[in-house]
Amino acid sequence: MENIFGFIEQRLKCIKQADLYRVLRPYGGAQGVVLEMEGKRYHNFSSNNYLGMADHPEVVAAFKRGLDTYGVGSGASRLICGHHQAHVELERRVAELKGKPAALMFNAGYQANVGLIAALCPKEGVVFSDELNHASIIDGCRLGRAETVVYGHCDVADLDRKMRAYGHKPIKLVVTDGVFSVDGDIAPLAELSELCLKYKALLYVDEAHSGGVFGPHGGGLLEELNLRLPHVIGFGTFSKAFGVFGSYVAAEQPIIDLLVNTCRSFIYSTSLPPALAEACLAAVKIVSADADRRARLWRNVAFLNECFQARGVPIKAATQIVCYPVGPAAKAMEMMAYLKEHGFLVVAIRPPTVPPGSSRLRISLSSEHDPLIIEKMVDLLAGYRID
Ligand SMILES: Cc1ncc(COP(=O)(O)O)c(C=O)c1O
Repeated sequence: MENIFGFIEQRLKCIKQADLYRVLRPYGGAQGVVLEMEGKRYHNFSSNNYLGMADHPEVVAAFKRGLDTYGVGSGASRLICGHHQAHVELERRVAELKGKPAALMFNAGYQANVGLIAALCPKEGVVFSDELNHASIIDGCRLGRAETVVYGHCDVADLDRKMRAYGHKPIKLVVTDGVFSVDGDIAPLAELSELCLKYKALLYVDEAHSGGVFGPHGGGLLEELNLRLPHVIGFGTFSKAFGVFGSYVAAEQPIIDLLVNTCRSFIYSTSLPPALAEACLAAVKIVSADADRRARLWRNVAFLNECFQARGVPIKAATQIVCYPVGPAAKAMEMMAYLKEHGFLVVAIRPPTVPPGSSRLRISLSSEHDPLIIEKMVDLLAGYRID
């Protein structure tokens, strides 16, 4: 045993020496634009609660109603006896929002991605994955038995070359984040969809950060770009703009049937509690009807850009996620500590989430941020010298 613990200590020491050590810091109260953490209150610029839905009274009420009616646990996986009417209703509503014939709910988005990719692309196939895709997609590719080909970030020409070389494969799946989770840039989905049509491939779009935020009804980039085509599969989470928990995939009925029959992370896991499905349903209804909330978020994105421009900061946010490059991990941690001293929470993102030497601050905006607070945050960023 001594050897094992010695080895663990050694690994932890290496992580600390590289300034990559992580610790958990509990927050109290609700998840909002002000966050209480370790006895202090911070202006929160690190949450994925983009539309302030995490404590929305109607969502909370739906959750409570669900708990009173159905209890807490769902008791079993969907195929055993954990398939509840609340799941059916949520899936119907999500399919409608995504403009797809059918949808299937999953537990955490991470869990969904690790199972979905393997189920959609068996070993005879090939998966093409953007080099900056989310960790859950990378892990999904690793778990699957198909060959994975990584293409340059948003590089349609590179993908074209690689797809041509794999033309003989009977099943091809292109996987991409819609909005990339760390940098907040947007995948060239229209071009990717065209390529997929050319090579008879499926296109899997992870809308974790675009769902709720894009599209007239919050149907994500697929709605915004009118990409509701049979070869395009929409995946998303309820845990970010919708403010709840859980995830979904929306696709043609045979694809959903295939997933129900083969997707291991769907089949072998207890289903989401029905009360949570009720909360998700309430959030979906509110988000799809409340265009003002989305408009407030986009106004905040535009305002952040104005603030950057006015202070000569060469950053232009494309979405509600903005990357502020720093470089060394230690510097990013120093800068985060400086912002915290001034009452702002902007969490540093370090390797292995990003490549070595490219640590950064990830700023995420909410529809509920007060523009004056956004301006103060930019003043602090712009006034900090990274040397
Ligand atoms: C692009 C992307 N996909 C999937 C996930 C996983 O979703 P969840 O948080 O619901 O597990 C995340 C979460 O950070 C993400 O950023």
